[in-house]
Amino acid sequence: MCGIVAIIGKHRVAPLLVDALKRLEYRGYDSAGVATLQDGMLDRRRAEGKLVNLEKVLAENPLGGTIGIGHTRWATHGAPTENNAHPHFCEGVAVVHNGIIENFSEIRDQLTSAGAHFSTETDTEVIAQLLASLLRSGKTPKEAMQATLSSLKGAYALAVLFEGENEQIMGARNGPPLAIGHGDGEMFIGSDAIALSPFTDDITYLEDGDWAILNRDHVEIFNADGNTVQRPRSKASSAYAQVEKGNYRHFMEKEIYEQPEVISHTLTHYIDFATGKVREVSSQLDFADIDSLKIAACGSAYLAGQFGKNWLERYARLPVEIDVASEFRYREMPLPGRQAALFVSQSGETADTLASLRYCKNNGLRIGSIVNVRESTIARESDVVFPTLAGPEIGVASTKALTCQMSVFAALAIGAGRARNTLSEAEEKDMVRSLSEVPRITGSVLHQIQPQLEILSRELSKFHNVLYLGRGNNYTLALEGALKLKEISYIHAEAYAAGELKHGPIALIDENMPVIVIAPHDRHFEKTVSNMQEVAARGGRIIFITDENGARASNLETMATIVLPNVDEFIMPLIFMLPIQLLAYHTAVFMGTDVDQPRNLAKSVTVE
Ligand code: G6P
Repeated sequence: MCGIVAIIGKHRVAPLLVDALKRLEYRGYDSAGVATLQDGMLDRRRAEGKLVNLEKVLAENPLGGTIGIGHTRWATHGAPTENNAHPHFCEGVAVVHNGIIENFSEIRDQLTSAGAHFSTETDTEVIAQLLASLLRSGKTPKEAMQATLSSLKGAYALAVLFEGENEQIMGARNGPPLAIGHGDGEMFIGSDAIALSPFTDDITYLEDGDWAILNRDHVEIFNADGNTVQRPRSKASSAYAQVEKGNYRHFMEKEIYEQPEVISHTLTHYIDFATGKVREVSSQLDFADIDSLKIAACGSAYLAGQFGKNWLERYARLPVEIDVASEFRYREMPLPGRQAALFVSQSGETADTLASLRYCKNNGLRIGSIVNVRESTIARESDVVFPTLAGPEIGVASTKALTCQMSVFAALAIGAGRARNTLSEAEEKDMVRSLSEVPRITGSVLHQIQPQLEILSRELSKFHNVLYLGRGNNYTLALEGALKLKEISYIHAEAYAAGELKHGPIALIDENMPVIVIAPHDRHFEKTVSNMQEVAARGGRIIFITDENGARASNLETMATIVLPNVDEFIMPLIFMLPIQLLAYHTAVFMGTDVDQPRNLAKSVTVE
């Protein structure tokens, strides 16, 4: 949801700002802009569409200056036009903003009745206008900043330049993250540490309500009351510097193929494969002392939670309630008794997930989170953090982060099962042994099935609608398969629990709607095969994703049958995720969509 960057340095900053914005483009990419101060004067370049358009504008009409701010936008208020692109200017003030100012119309009405003229449809312009009006009334930039921040309601990460102030940039945070980077005679602001990784790994994260004044060799941080505060400096992960595609065509493809390695890193954090036991960390949510668990998350992270629920209920006999965070946060649900809550988020910044966490925290629940970004707000506000070791995920459609979240849940299910005495030591050993095989099997399956899926994708790309079916964890896989396919190929895809087929979707079956059935030879197999038969009897075309035993046991005619190796039922979802990801990926590549940055989407959703 918008990326912001600011640099006060020694070199011409416009190219550096663009470089940093490239690393933030996953947050939004419908327009972009930079502004710099040169000889005390503000100037800016903006362009509709992706960053390459801004690069072209800058090549034709470069910007000088060693101090500047930049923005890549995911539109909330106002169409993604050049005029609505940030930075927004007003009488010598330049602002870039990530978030939503909830009381913007109130502020705009007040300023308009005092004579202000607004030139954009954005909520952000009120910040520039408010700052300008306060400067006009005689306040210093610092006073104007503090007064403005106290008038704003909503979520924001900001960077601000003031004309005539060649030696300072201001930043502020309330909600979306903001990182300050310390350089040598240079200072930086970024929406995340990844954006700043080419310049520095020496990072300070602002806390909610903080704001800061940066000059070339120093930063002063204030809290919401205007008191100076110290915030810790930390070293950003070295992995942040390595966000390159390498030999892959897309980040998504690279991230799919990184899974054997990152799943292995993640599992090793939770499991001691030498002893065949889960580590202490896997039972830190006091699983033995709770009667139920709440889970909330968004998008693919929500589906990771769904796998988690299935495993925790089955293996640890722990009742789990899960909901999408945008619903969870507003349900006003009672939270009596011995419960804990667990939140799942790659970025650790998703607004709805964070709000759900705070709801549970305010109700006294112990809070755990499964996060990929350890410095994130969700991680910092949790009692127990369960990290995924996926490394930076750049493709908007989640792949490796999801399978790492699932790996954590698999380990937690064993940890919880042991803590609650629902699994014996021997069962724990068996499950650990199965998990230890996941990196090797995922590696070989990816290479084995890729050619077939590439060919199948060409077929699939001819259709406008696709139905995914499965039962149990295979239903959750179906949901993820449909989500992936629609978000990157724009083919309408829906997932149904196979048992629900007769309750509605069967009416849609004809030769124009392929039905992808996920049915390994597990305890649901026979039932799902009956559902496949019902599809076949109505002329439906079936893409059958199964294992060797399943392929042997079915003689139905299919459009394609994808056969994976027989594996233990516990780890099946981690293996069966791979054809789903590759099918969506190759279909999107074949259709020529923008795989890493699909239309209208953003990776980090920091607004409601
Ligand atoms: C967006 C992304 C998804 C992600 C979801 C939740 O929709 O495109 O890939 O699963 O947000 O994000 P989070 O960072 O909380 O996992």
